[in-house]
Amino acid sequence: MGKALIIGAGGVAGVVVHKCCQNSEVFTEICIASRTKSKCDALKEAVEKKGTKTIVTTAKVDANSVDELVALIEKENPDIVINVALPYQDLTIMDACLATKTDYVDTANYEPEDTAKFEYKWQWAYREKFEKAGITALLGSGFDPGVTGVFCAYAQKHYFDEIHYIDILDCNGGDHGYPFATNFNPEINIREVSAKGSYIENGQWVETEPMEIKRVYNFDQVGEKDMYLLHHEELESLAININGVKRIRFFMTFGQSYLTHLKCLENVGMTSIEPIMYEGKEIVPLQFLKAVLPDPASIGPRTVGKTNIGCIFQGVKDGEEKTYYVYNVCDHQKCYKEVNSQAVSYTTGVPAMIGAMMVMTGKWKKPGVYNIEEFDPDPFMDALNKWGLPWIENFNPVLVD
Ligand SMILES: NC(=O)c1ccc[n+]([C@@H]2O[C@H](COP(=O)([O-])OP(=O)(O)OC[C@H]3O[C@@H](n4cnc5c(N)ncnc54)[C@H](OP(=O)(O)O)[C@@H]3O)[C@@H](O)[C@H]2O)c1
Repeated sequence: MGKALIIGAGGVAGVVVHKCCQNSEVFTEICIASRTKSKCDALKEAVEKKGTKTIVTTAKVDANSVDELVALIEKENPDIVINVALPYQDLTIMDACLATKTDYVDTANYEPEDTAKFEYKWQWAYREKFEKAGITALLGSGFDPGVTGVFCAYAQKHYFDEIHYIDILDCNGGDHGYPFATNFNPEINIREVSAKGSYIENGQWVETEPMEIKRVYNFDQVGEKDMYLLHHEELESLAININGVKRIRFFMTFGQSYLTHLKCLENVGMTSIEPIMYEGKEIVPLQFLKAVLPDPASIGPRTVGKTNIGCIFQGVKDGEEKTYYVYNVCDHQKCYKEVNSQAVSYTTGVPAMIGAMMVMTGKWKKPGVYNIEEFDPDPFMDALNKWGLPWIENFNPVLVD
């Protein structure tokens, strides 16, 4: 059918590459491009060894440079660009897509490198330009954001007239055996979890101190875990796109060892993004920390256990109160055997491939810039079952107080 240009060659990109190559009827060709070409070549070798029918090429690109991106897109002529580099590159890649009239998919919203603040305003500002160019930008096609938005659209379409309360629960019950490591890019991960928490209530953001709100939840196939309220990007778009929402919260599980290490690193200034001078050279403490922590791509072989991510809804259907919980459970070792990555990369990379497939096959082709819950969820929900992230429904879940 067509060709995708995949930008980035890290943990998530590795899964996207494997999944596109398993789906060679849609992705007849892919080009993997990143800052370090050897990582792209290693991914190409891995999927070719597995006998993919997809034609795979690789390239070097600095995705901070619109000119380099435009030259690469013109040379490769893809139908779609799948951005699985870092959130800092979202706008340059969107600019290059505009210049070349190419569809765009990502998994995380734009964040300026020097301010730990992520919100959609920068990418939503491209709506008119994408509409005029006749191209589609699908924002946030990972798991959260991503599948969580599809779950919301599905609940709204099939089970509720109005959804009043949404709790998104992200549980990682995996154990990698390190006292402290992150499951995806450490810099992005630590920026996210050390920020203030927030949730939306009656159309207003309510801010909390980092990790101030804690709950305990018993997750199917994982067990009881502590979870903490975090600010998360999909809250912003879901508050607009889901009818009648009064409150949306996002919780993520953390173990005590992770939190103790994080607090200590924070207390000594290692999580700061303010540059400091060290032996005559400017360094950013958090970037230095990233360099000494285990590479998330390397924790795959040693991670055991499962993730459980989903949404609990409370609302009304035909005048009656209703609750609904939909979630996916994913096994770290099973993912590793299939695509050489742990479940956190897997649960992000599979939806990125599916989102690109939705646009490429025309099911979600609509000029403009859209969050994932703005499209018909049904074909995406079917594809989740087919491509490795089956979902489970519970119509009488335990609620979070
Ligand atoms: N929605 C979700 O559920 C979800 C969950 C997890 C992660 N994510 C997002 O997924 C994305 C990828 O995460 P990850 O864990 O795969 O990160 P990662 O392992 O650090 O990989 C990032 C990749 O981006 C490349 N890159 C960085 N700067 C670049 C530049 N200027 N030009 C070209 N390539 C560049 C890196 O290249 P080199 O290695 O060559 O330096 C690396 O290959 C992030 O945006 C993250 O926020 C989303």
